[in-house]
Amino acid sequence: MTPNHPDAEGQPTGQVEVGDVVEVEVGPVAHGGFCIARYEGRVVFLRHALPGERVRAVVTEAKEGQRFVRADAVEVLVASDHRVQPPCRFAGPGLCGGCDFQHVELGHQRELKAAVVREQFSRLAHLDVDVVVEPVPGDVDGLGWRTRVEFAVDESGRAGLRRHRSHSVLPVDTCLIADDRVVATGVLGRDWSGSQAVDVVAPSTGEPVVVPVPAAGAAVGEDGPPTVVEHVAGHRFTGDFQVSARGFWQVHPGAAATFVDAALEALAPREGETALDLYSGVGLFAAALAESVGPGGKVVAVESDGDAVAAAAANLAARPSVLALRARVDDAFGVARPKRSGPGSRAQRSRKLRRHPLLPLRADVVVLDPPRTGAGKDVVAQVVALEPRAVAYVACDPAALARDTASFLEAGYRLSGLRAFDAFPMTHHVECVALFER
Ligand SMILES: C[S@@+](CC[C@H](N)C(=O)[O-])C[C@H]1O[C@@H](n2cnc3c(N)ncnc32)[C@H](O)[C@@H]1O
Repeated sequence: MTPNHPDAEGQPTGQVEVGDVVEVEVGPVAHGGFCIARYEGRVVFLRHALPGERVRAVVTEAKEGQRFVRADAVEVLVASDHRVQPPCRFAGPGLCGGCDFQHVELGHQRELKAAVVREQFSRLAHLDVDVVVEPVPGDVDGLGWRTRVEFAVDESGRAGLRRHRSHSVLPVDTCLIADDRVVATGVLGRDWSGSQAVDVVAPSTGEPVVVPVPAAGAAVGEDGPPTVVEHVAGHRFTGDFQVSARGFWQVHPGAAATFVDAALEALAPREGETALDLYSGVGLFAAALAESVGPGGKVVAVESDGDAVAAAAANLAARPSVLALRARVDDAFGVARPKRSGPGSRAQRSRKLRRHPLLPLRADVVVLDPPRTGAGKDVVAQVVALEPRAVAYVACDPAALARDTASFLEAGYRLSGLRAFDAFPMTHHVECVALFER
C-alpha cells in the first residue's frame, strides 16, 4: 500500500482489505479509544496510536462500500512525545481489548479524555466546555485500581480477557489494572471448564470473592451471588453498602466517594428538601442525599434491578426519609421506553403508561446516574417537569451526557458545572459529573 494523502476527503479509492498495511498520519483522538486518520478517502479508526504520529497500521475491519475502516498501529514511524512503553505485556495490537491507552503517558491520557469530552459537548450540545480530567484520589500510576473484574473463559477452561471487538479470549496470568487482591485469588491459573466467565470482586471491606458464571442457561447457584460490603469515606458523606458481587458498584476504589462528594457539592441539598435519586443502584446517592435533607426532607430512589433494590432496602433501612422504588425510570414517569426491536417490544407497545403513584410531582434536587445509554430526552423532560432547582448528572458516557445536555438546555436549564474524573485509567473511559440549574 502506498502512503495516503492526508487531506483526501473524496470518495474512497481502491480496495482496502483486512490484513492490508497502510501508512497514515494520525489525527485527533475520538470517543471510543482510537484516533482518526485518513487513507485514500476513507476514515481510519486507529488504535494504539497518538495524535501527531506517523504509523504503519494493519487493517482489522473493512467492509465493502463503507467509508471507514478500523486498524491497529503496528509500527511507529514518527512517535509522539507522550508515547510510553505499555506497562502491561498483554496490551497491544491484537492482544487484550481491555485497555486503550497503555501506550500513553498517564497525564496525557487525561488530556485526551478531556479533548473527547469537549468534542462531544461541542458536536452534540453545541456548547464549548472547559474541562479538566481529574485523577481519582489515591491513584498513583493508573494501575492496580480495578476492584471488579469479569474474566472470560476460553474453550479449554482458561481464564483471560477478550480481544478488542472480539469474542476470542486471550488467556492472561495477570492484569495490571486489577487490584492486586484480584490476581492473588489465583483465578488466573485454574481450570474454569463449565463456566463462561469468572467474576472477581475485591471489596473495600473483607476478603475478595470469586463467582464463577456457569455456561449459558445454568443458574448462578441456589442462593444467588454472594454479597459484599463496600465502605464509602468521602469528605461529605460516610456509609456502608451491601452490594451483590455481580451487581453494580463503581470499580475504582476511590470513585464512589469522589462522585458522591462531587454531586453533594454541586447540589448543596438543604434540610427539608425533596430529592430524587434516579438509577439509584444500591442507594449510594440516596443515602447521602437523605443525610443532607435530614428527617424533615424526603428522598425517592428509583432503580430497576431487583437485587439492587433489595440491597438498597437494607442499606437505607436506618433512613426513614428514603423510599426505594423498584421500577424502570421511564416506567416510573409513565413515559414510553426507548424504541427497540426484538423480544419485549410487543409487550412495550401494549403496556399502559402510568406514572408511579409514589413518585413526587415536584423535587428540589435530582441525581441522575443512568447507564451508558443516558437518560434520554423523555426522561429529561420529566425531570425538568419536577422543576428542580438543581440536577447532578453522573455520566459514564460523555456522548450520552452531551445529548442529554442538549435536552436540558432546550428546556431552559443551564450547565453550570462540569467535572470529569479519571476513574478508569489506561482505558478510554471517563466519568463526568455535570450540574444543571434552572
Ligand atoms: C451507573 S449505575 C448507577 C448506580 C448507582 N447510582 C451507584 O452509583 O452505585 C446505573 C444503574 O441504573 C440501573 N438501570 C439501568 N437501566 C435502568 C432503568 N431504565 N431504570 C432504572 N434503573 C436502571 C442499573 O441497574 C444500575 O444500577
